[in-house]
Amino acid sequence: MNWENLIVNLECVDTLPTLPTVFTKVSELIAKPNVTAKQLAEVIQTDQAISMKLLKIVNSPFFGFSRKIMTVQDAVVLLGFNATKNTVMSISIFRALNHGNTVSGFNMKDFWKHSIATGLIARYLARKLHVDAEKAFSAGIVHDIGKIILQQYFQDELEKVLSVIAEKKISFYEAELEVYRGTHCDLGSYLADKWNLPLPLIEVIDLHHTPGEATEDPRLVSIVHIANILCKGMGLDFAETSPNKEIDSYAFARLDLSAEEIEKWLEEIQNEVDQAEEMFKNIQ
Ligand SMILES: [Fe+2]
Ligand SMILES: [Fe+2]
Repeated sequence: MNWENLIVNLECVDTLPTLPTVFTKVSELIAKPNVTAKQLAEVIQTDQAISMKLLKIVNSPFFGFSRKIMTVQDAVVLLGFNATKNTVMSISIFRALNHGNTVSGFNMKDFWKHSIATGLIARYLARKLHVDAEKAFSAGIVHDIGKIILQQYFQDELEKVLSVIAEKKISFYEAELEVYRGTHCDLGSYLADKWNLPLPLIEVIDLHHTPGEATEDPRLVSIVHIANILCKGMGLDFAETSPNKEIDSYAFARLDLSAEEIEKWLEEIQNEVDQAEEMFKNIQ
């Protein structure tokens, strides 16, 4: 099947995963003026499972709060509205897409660990570079959701991609182009658009392998591009045979960053990556 047919097929799928309604409600509420933490907490509490996970995550070392946070309202106050929205979004996406896998060679747990670690590295880089850190974390979490679409709806194509990677030792992205002339970036941005995710996140999903094409938020795209490659370099990738790619020089230039500078941060970045397993346990 080629790329055009993949999208046509996807348009016919009436069981595309949906995001929990609480995420949409939270986004709408935050966009209104004079919203209070109490109102936001009340909306989140309509979804018991998401409330539980939110509390689990804010109490994890990931956020580093010194006291135990007992209520959703306290969590909202401590996190702030935007970080609350981003965290609810990450949990929602995880819930919508974290289902068992059927294609051998695609390990769902490894996939999420890669996504979370990319999010953690992106957050680290964003802090260093004065970019919205929580947004960078969410962007890292979602960057590869197109691979889940492949795994759920186009298993034959995914199997072909995995065998081309093993045979030719090329990257996932290159193998996809060979197999169906499209990529997980196109599939993921299609879903993100259907979900009405914020435009900068759709762009990250679409362009994290080609950051030079970004127009909406090129710094965010560049950060996730670099985080993704560093993450693979640290061994967190689910298709182990794919070779490591070079960081695009555009991303370095856009962030006014050099390989030497990143080199100096590698130890701290490794510490972030080491948290991925723990974070995975909290979010799932
Ligand atoms: Fe990717
Ligand atoms: Fe990735």
